[in-house]
Amino acid sequence: MLQEALWIGGGNEDGACPEFIKEFCINKEVKSACLAVTAIGVYEAHINGRRVGDFILAPGCTAYHKRLQYQTYDVTDMLEEENRLCIAVGTGWHRNRMCKGRPEIHEKPCAVLAALTIEYADKTGEKIITDGSWRVKKSRILMSDLYDGELYNAALPETEGAAVTVLTLSKDMLIPQEGEKVCEHERLKPAKLFVSPKGERIIDFGQNLTGYVEFSIDAEENTRIRFSHAEILDADGNFYTENYRSARAVVEYICKAGKQTYKPHFAFFGFRYIRLDEFPEQVTLDDFTAIAVYSDLVRTGNIETGNLKINQLFSNTLWSQKGNFLDIPTDCPQRDERQGWTGDAQVFVKTACYNYHVKRFFEKWLGDVRAEQRENGSVPDMIPNFWNGAGSSSAWGDVITIIPWQLYRMYGDVKPLADNFDAMKKWVDYITGDSLQKYLWICADSEKALWKKHYGDWLALDAPAGSYTGSSSVDFIASAFYAGSTKLLIESGKVLGRDVTAYEELYKNIVAAFKKTFHILKTQTEHTLALYFDLTDDKQAVAKALDAMIKENGNKLQTGFVGTPYLLHVLSENGYAGTAYDLLLQEEYPSWLYEVNHGATTIWEHWDGVREDGTFWSSDMNSYNHYAYGSVMDWVYTVAAGIRPAQAGFREAIIAPTPDRRLGWLDVSLKTAYGRIASKWICGGSGIRYEIHTPVPALIIIGGREHRVSEGSYIFWT
Ligand code: BGC
Repeated sequence: MLQEALWIGGGNEDGACPEFIKEFCINKEVKSACLAVTAIGVYEAHINGRRVGDFILAPGCTAYHKRLQYQTYDVTDMLEEENRLCIAVGTGWHRNRMCKGRPEIHEKPCAVLAALTIEYADKTGEKIITDGSWRVKKSRILMSDLYDGELYNAALPETEGAAVTVLTLSKDMLIPQEGEKVCEHERLKPAKLFVSPKGERIIDFGQNLTGYVEFSIDAEENTRIRFSHAEILDADGNFYTENYRSARAVVEYICKAGKQTYKPHFAFFGFRYIRLDEFPEQVTLDDFTAIAVYSDLVRTGNIETGNLKINQLFSNTLWSQKGNFLDIPTDCPQRDERQGWTGDAQVFVKTACYNYHVKRFFEKWLGDVRAEQRENGSVPDMIPNFWNGAGSSSAWGDVITIIPWQLYRMYGDVKPLADNFDAMKKWVDYITGDSLQKYLWICADSEKALWKKHYGDWLALDAPAGSYTGSSSVDFIASAFYAGSTKLLIESGKVLGRDVTAYEELYKNIVAAFKKTFHILKTQTEHTLALYFDLTDDKQAVAKALDAMIKENGNKLQTGFVGTPYLLHVLSENGYAGTAYDLLLQEEYPSWLYEVNHGATTIWEHWDGVREDGTFWSSDMNSYNHYAYGSVMDWVYTVAAGIRPAQAGFREAIIAPTPDRRLGWLDVSLKTAYGRIASKWICGGSGIRYEIHTPVPALIIIGGREHRVSEGSYIFWT
């Protein structure tokens, strides 16, 4: 569709967002009209003043040098006799400093490519494409930047358009829209307006979210408005933005005369509060709305329990998923980062799949993972690899085996396995070739490798203060994930009918070498990984030791990104479900409910994001919207409620609830392709009552007894 169109640019010399314009007349009956558009940057198209589609920040975020999406819109009903097609283009991800490591992406000029294909009722047709006949003018968006915010001058007089520049840019990287569109979702009204001890006027939306604020105002021309965003208040109750680092996250707006409503076009923020830096005296709260913006995902899972704090934790996990599923899975949505960190995505993917239908979202991103995988098979730590980091960390690069496998198990489609099988193989082969010791993944200088190569048990608490990487051995973690990825490669190969004998042999050797080398386990995470990846001959002894470590530590965890997602699983799988619940229900630092008790409405990056005395652990790396530790919710879905696929895609299910009286009751459901599975239990005086509903044949395991059932609703007691 776009092959005949020409890339056009210009109009952004002073940093303003240009608007590309084409006027045309139609004097026949239109049967259908379809607009295809993409941009180097992000775009918003309007026909005759009406917005085309509702995609925010189109064309989305991809490894642009190889994959640039274009969107198509049915615009049949938008055309009139006289038409004006306008396409405004902002910097987006593409031309933002977040992309600074990739000059081949970052330094591309602002440009747009579009084709409007019209079919007339008389069977003739017409194509309007971007070419030298378009005009360009400076829009009222005088500055827009994903990190810094937006400056809009509503009072700016309309300017004359100038000639566009026809650019010779490649079209080889164009692909049709693959992911879910990004659009607006919840609209939240302010919870309150208050004045901080420093005298700042602050609006609290009551929820940390990702998106922007829409406001309405009746103002005199040239009234200036300026507000900043923040996730949290400091210990004294003042507005706190240091954790945004260099991201200014400010909206500035110059009013036209009269009533008007505005929301940013090409910027988003991670925030709960805004501070009115410049705003008329009179503030009407109802004139402000926080709008959540994220990929258009269908919600599939729900968790409700007798513990209100666990319910809040679940809500926090959902909000962190929404806030970080804005076209790519990001670490955080607020500071000058917002990158597709692979480790975070693999840690959270299982929970993500239960909460929402994320198949399409991840399949698109896996396309970028494959595009960015290096010749030698190593997988960059962030995708797209905007910083152009040379690294490839264990537990981060393993995203290429873990996510396709999870998608297959959850949705039953072999496509993610087929698409990624070669990339999985390249990853495992890369590790084989990179290690100093056969059958393990051993680095030259393990201590130095931390940060430089591997991220270790990122943010674990068992390291000296100030360390980001925990105390678990980096070689241990790397070798355990080497085993894990090799196993997933074998399983995937078997599903696809590929010959994996060589990898089966490799796997046996890895396991043997691992057991021989790493027989002394030190940290909670090392114990957890040995159990999770089946790398010990004495599971009972290791589980017992892990249980003892947790008890000695006051029923508290010390694990980071790598150990935490598996910790509760290995405990409950090995007879210590009570200890898993101890951790889930722990309210003192460090724990999930500690965050809830400190007012969290999303998942924090650090266990000590806010300390007991209200101070923060650091301003350098302190996000309050980081989904990684929200991965605990997959334990609630698959163990506490016990909902698991017996066959990929839930064609058959296992429902094996693990109740605990301290939770009181639990009511969990999951929408699958075959219908809704529900698992409910209630602890009462005379025992525990279970209500199970399955739309597919299931193996229900209650109190150690197995019941093979066909679809239907069942009640049990223990
Ligand atoms: C991110 C993490 C990420 C890490 C790599 C951080 O800056 O926020 O979530 O995984 O870097 O260790």
